[in-house]
Amino acid sequence: MKIAVTGKGGVGKTTITGTLARLLGRDGFRILAIDADPNYNLWSAIGIDEDVASGIEPLLENEELVRAKTDMKWVEVLGNFFQVRPSVDDLTALHAVEGPDNVSLLVAGTVNMGGQGCMCPSAALLKALIGHLSLESDEAFIMDMDAGIENLGRGTTKGMDILLAVVEPGRRSLDTIDRIRGLAADIGLNRVFAIGNKVMNTEDEHFIESILESHNIPLLGIIPYDENIRTADRLATAPIDLDENTPAIQKIRGLKNTILQKLKELDSDERHSEL
Ligand SMILES: Nc1ncnc2c1ncn2[C@@H]1O[C@H](COP(=O)(O)OP(=O)(O)OP(=O)(O)O)[C@@H](O)[C@H]1O
Ligand SMILES: [Mg+2]
Repeated sequence: MKIAVTGKGGVGKTTITGTLARLLGRDGFRILAIDADPNYNLWSAIGIDEDVASGIEPLLENEELVRAKTDMKWVEVLGNFFQVRPSVDDLTALHAVEGPDNVSLLVAGTVNMGGQGCMCPSAALLKALIGHLSLESDEAFIMDMDAGIENLGRGTTKGMDILLAVVEPGRRSLDTIDRIRGLAADIGLNRVFAIGNKVMNTEDEHFIESILESHNIPLLGIIPYDENIRTADRLATAPIDLDENTPAIQKIRGLKNTILQKLKELDSDERHSEL
């Protein structure tokens, strides 16, 4: 199971990714979480201690080390593609840090901006790692992305089983979703589902529903605005560790079950259509 989480800045991608990772881990999945945001902070939403997080060495910042530490066979083609299929073990052996509930975190890396050139090589490496990652049935991979939609253009979400687009009840956040879907389709990813976050009332809920309906984008679930989520953020604590029964977490728990169900349905539909 490979899940990517996208959306406009500040909509709640990291909060949702970290909480989903913990909940799926509690369900018995072995989770590899990837923070693909150059400004990485998924560690706090997962519940990894700050002192552990401060020792994180982003994967893409030391490509030589990646090569040296793996016995993966590398081939240099237009960037950094490699041949063989890395396993979760290969990746976690690199730079992953262990979090609670069976979740390992791998931080992809920061972008060297300011005249250092584009991030194409890094993106190519990440794309290759993810695209070739081979998962066992009890393993899941979940990726938190940086804000905006350029990352979709870089193709790092290629090969994902599902793309979750987080939206909040505002016009600008909802307007991006159509472009998200278009870019996702360009890389062959048609399973795009929306999640409404920070919903305060039924008016917010209807607003999200009506816009998504007009774009024909399915809504997987709604998460309420919840002060406990903000408090957890201020304390650099995982929301699930602050109060696992706070309304937003309860909704994310329901959402996790919906995602598992949806993936099962989609896979079975695909099998049928192949027959
Ligand atoms: N359901 C919610 N209720 C209240 N606050 C929330 C909720 N979800 C997220 N937040 C708050 O919104 C802020 C942004 O959340 P988060 O960092 O998860 O968003 P993001 O989409 O990952 O942001 P970025 O684009 O910067 O990566 C945080 O302060 C977080 O605590
Ligand atoms: Mg984030």
